[in-house]
Amino acid sequence: MIITIANSKGGVGKSTLAVHLAAWLHEQGHNVTLADCDTQQSSSEWIREALPEVKAVRLGNPNEILNELPALATETDYVIADGPGSNTETSRALLLRADFAIVPCKASMLEVRALAKATEVLRQAQDIRGGIPKAVIVLSMVGKNYRLTKDMKDAAAALNLPLAHTAMTLRQIYADAPGQGEVVWRLGSRAAEAAAEVEHLFREILPEAYQSKSGGRKRKTGTQ
Ligand SMILES: Nc1ncnc2c1ncn2[C@@H]1O[C@H](COP(=O)(O)OP(=O)(O)O)[C@@H](O)[C@H]1O
Ligand SMILES: [Mg+2]
Repeated sequence: MIITIANSKGGVGKSTLAVHLAAWLHEQGHNVTLADCDTQQSSSEWIREALPEVKAVRLGNPNEILNELPALATETDYVIADGPGSNTETSRALLLRADFAIVPCKASMLEVRALAKATEVLRQAQDIRGGIPKAVIVLSMVGKNYRLTKDMKDAAAALNLPLAHTAMTLRQIYADAPGQGEVVWRLGSRAAEAAAEVEHLFREILPEAYQSKSGGRKRKTGTQ
């Protein structure tokens, strides 16, 4: 299964989501490849430090993506493709190959208003491919007291995109994690809430990937 993290805007939490999802799937016992399709290559560097067991590849342009993603998908259970911040053709290539697209979106009205534009290429791909890739919006960098407003729900509904119930909250620990070369659930007790949140999110959006404790790999939880 090829999962792409897609939003044509930069700085919305794509790489953070991609690395955590790849690590989580690995710990569920799946074979995972992280395909870093952003020229900044931040997610492949991060995953190499955090989980060297996860295969990380860099796909530098749309042709490489279109040519190489299918083979990667036959070699591993999940390919997590981290998308670029701005290159439309790279996003298009990813969305023409992906089975599932996760669209992180900052939880502000400005970002939600821009969502139609940010998901234009997704809609084109779904149109061409008869509804594939299936997609879900995940609200990211959500303020502590934020409540899912009607505007937000309406915007998602207007685009015919489901909105995950679980959001990723704005927390310093997410911003600290790449510098530590770790995923949040390995950063001890101060990351406990973030760890619980991502676990909850991934179980919600990928229920078929979740393995009950006995099925998954033993998880390192870091210093407590
Ligand atoms: N939930 C969050 N809370 C706080 N900071 C975050 C969160 N998610 C991401 N960040 C930080 O915001 C910046 C952009 O996130 P990133 O995942 O790199 O986005 P993108 O890949 O879409 O450009 C990074 O510095 C990252 O550490
Ligand atoms: Mg990124």
